[in-house]
Amino acid sequence: MRILSGVQPSGKLHVGNYFGAIRQFVDLQHKGSGLYFIADLHALTTVRDAAKLRELTRDVVITFLALGLDPERATLFKQSDVPEVSELSWILSTVTPMGLLERAHSFKDKVAHGISPDHGLFAYPVLMAADILIYRSDVVPVGKDQKQHLEITRDIAVKFNQTYCPGFDPSTGKGGVLKLPDAMIMEDTAIVPGIDGQKMSKSYNNTIELFAPDKETQKRIMSIKTDSTPVEAPKDPEKCTVYALLKLFATPEELAIIRDQYLRGGVGYGDFKKQLVQLFMRQFGEARRRQAELMKNADYVDEVLARGAERARKIASELMDEVRKVTGLR
Ligand code: ADP
Ligand code: TRP
Repeated sequence: MRILSGVQPSGKLHVGNYFGAIRQFVDLQHKGSGLYFIADLHALTTVRDAAKLRELTRDVVITFLALGLDPERATLFKQSDVPEVSELSWILSTVTPMGLLERAHSFKDKVAHGISPDHGLFAYPVLMAADILIYRSDVVPVGKDQKQHLEITRDIAVKFNQTYCPGFDPSTGKGGVLKLPDAMIMEDTAIVPGIDGQKMSKSYNNTIELFAPDKETQKRIMSIKTDSTPVEAPKDPEKCTVYALLKLFATPEELAIIRDQYLRGGVGYGDFKKQLVQLFMRQFGEARRRQAELMKNADYVDEVLARGAERARKIASELMDEVRKVTGLR
């Protein structure tokens, strides 16, 4: 089974990215051959500063490694190191109906937020389809927000196969050059809230970063928004952002004690936040040490990426040979 996913280097990774995505990648690496890439070509739709893009791209690889993706098991690489993906993206765009892209929620949302769309943003799902199809991926673990992109990927693959593969049977997916992938939607991961209680997201400036300095992490956690219930009074855990975050880090036994403290009163939000700081450090302490080491070891990171690119390119070239043949490019 081939598992593939990508993360855009569009900002510093945070607690939401870990529980919503990267933790699954780490767990899945024992289930099949995993390919995980940094979607730097996709990030060009939002990051327009060369130094920043380079820095954020490195941050993502280092984050993958520090959190436990093993480069001996999984292939870690940079999207743009496999130029074939851009070629496939063009070829796929010639069989992609405009309407399919016009219906994309992510595109419509951005336009609704007043972003003046360029062709890159419009064509974003086609490049994503190329990412997935070029490695003959079986399973793509992604957050709910990416579900429609996976459906578009399947639609594009069907279109291509129907156009170029006479023996293709859309009901079974057999007989095509492009394999139809399945999404693995991480439904059960609740949306991780940010320090203001909304969904934690780079775009809302409400994140708790995984690798910020200790002091800053502490400051972020201590500034989580809470209501004004006094220390002595009982508190409703289900309405509290601090509790929602504690849930992610505490063992069931620890959580039972914390819950009891909420319901009985006598413990203030400041104390719950301090517990959260401690549990955050327990969970990520080891990864944070590894991250600090990796930041000093640029050669090793380059070497991981070079090896990953080589492996990924080999798989991509095989598929592209077939694509070029059936389309008449070769
Ligand atoms: P952001 O919203 O910070 O820009 P991305 O869209 O780059 O994050 O998300 C990368 C991955 O992390 C996706 O798989 C997404 O589903 C997951 N993710 C991001 N934020 C959260 C969150 N608050 N809770 C759960 N998962 C999240
Ligand atoms: N669009 C994804 C996101 O924003 C990133 C991505 C690009 C991706 N290409 C992919 C994810 C291919 C899975 C497979 O999170």
